[in-house]
Amino acid sequence: MYVAQPIEWIDDGVVILDQRRLPTEEVHHTFRDYREVARAIREMVIRGAPAIGVAAAMGVALGVQNSRAATVEALRGEFAEICETLAQTRPTAVDLFWALERMKRRFTALLTEKTGLDEIRRALVAEAIQIHAEKKATDEAIGRYGAAFLPAEGQVMTQCNAGALATGGIGTALGVIRVAFEQGKKLHVLVPETRPYLQGARLTAWELHRGGIPLTLITDNMVGHFLKTGKVGAVVTGADRVAANGDAANKIGTYPIAVLAKENNVPFYIAAPISTLDLSIASGERIPIEERPASEVTHIQGVRIAPDVPAAHPAFDVTPARYITAIFTERGVAKPPYSESLAALAASAQTVGTLSIR
Ligand code: MRU
Repeated sequence: MYVAQPIEWIDDGVVILDQRRLPTEEVHHTFRDYREVARAIREMVIRGAPAIGVAAAMGVALGVQNSRAATVEALRGEFAEICETLAQTRPTAVDLFWALERMKRRFTALLTEKTGLDEIRRALVAEAIQIHAEKKATDEAIGRYGAAFLPAEGQVMTQCNAGALATGGIGTALGVIRVAFEQGKKLHVLVPETRPYLQGARLTAWELHRGGIPLTLITDNMVGHFLKTGKVGAVVTGADRVAANGDAANKIGTYPIAVLAKENNVPFYIAAPISTLDLSIASGERIPIEERPASEVTHIQGVRIAPDVPAAHPAFDVTPARYITAIFTERGVAKPPYSESLAALAASAQTVGTLSIR
């Protein structure tokens, strides 16, 4: 089955599929400067929490590879600046900071081992490629755990795009749907268009269609109607950051879907890797919510659809844990109380670290 490839490391740089141009055009850019990768993340050339993490790791590798530093000491200063530039791109997806932290840890270990400049460059490229490879394995595991929770047949709903485009693997929420579909479950996916950036209409519809998975595109204001009348067996979405108590930030519009799912007795699941957990924050109240340009609300793909008036664009909302039936991770399925189940899964993955780059 077709799997989109949003990012790839090649000898010449980082190749990124321009998601702003989908579904009408498939355009790839090769970036050779880490600042270009930072801009690509900020401007949503690549988006989706895990894919942002992969891009950040590759951005660091690119910065180090192309650095003109003549000594390890000089590279150390540049390294901090590279990480800071990439950290300043998008604030909500914690995978970004997770990936930067991991690159930083690798760099520090190489310094401790008194590794030479060329070897440091090679090792950081290898680490970024390894992070990408791990995302693929992670998605497959999330898919296997989550698929068991989807109905044998009928409608499921998602939100935004948590597919291959968003991770570099098979996707988290869409990975769950894909694995279930491949297992023979007869699913039909309801895809909210996900205003204002239309990740549902442009990206999820494109991915599912190319993968041969039946879908119906709906507008965001149809969500309540379909949850009430559409015999929806489950909702499954991704997340950008999950707090220790299970509160989960995801694309704006996820919270009302979760509330309406509960109102209509539809289970609401989150599919997310351990790298999306931020156990350093107790609840969703402390998750930073990105404010994106108002022009993304007043315009659609450059075409003005509203008068020149103030417009708000919080890019994410936080779904309180009480609306979340279960959280699928690559280490297993977390159920309430999340403060216990998430901590246990994260400990088993041994990836809980202090996120020192913010
Ligand atoms: O603004 P975006 O497109 O980066 O937002 C993406 C989402 O909200 C996804 O659901 C989330 O990052 C999970 S991706 C597997």
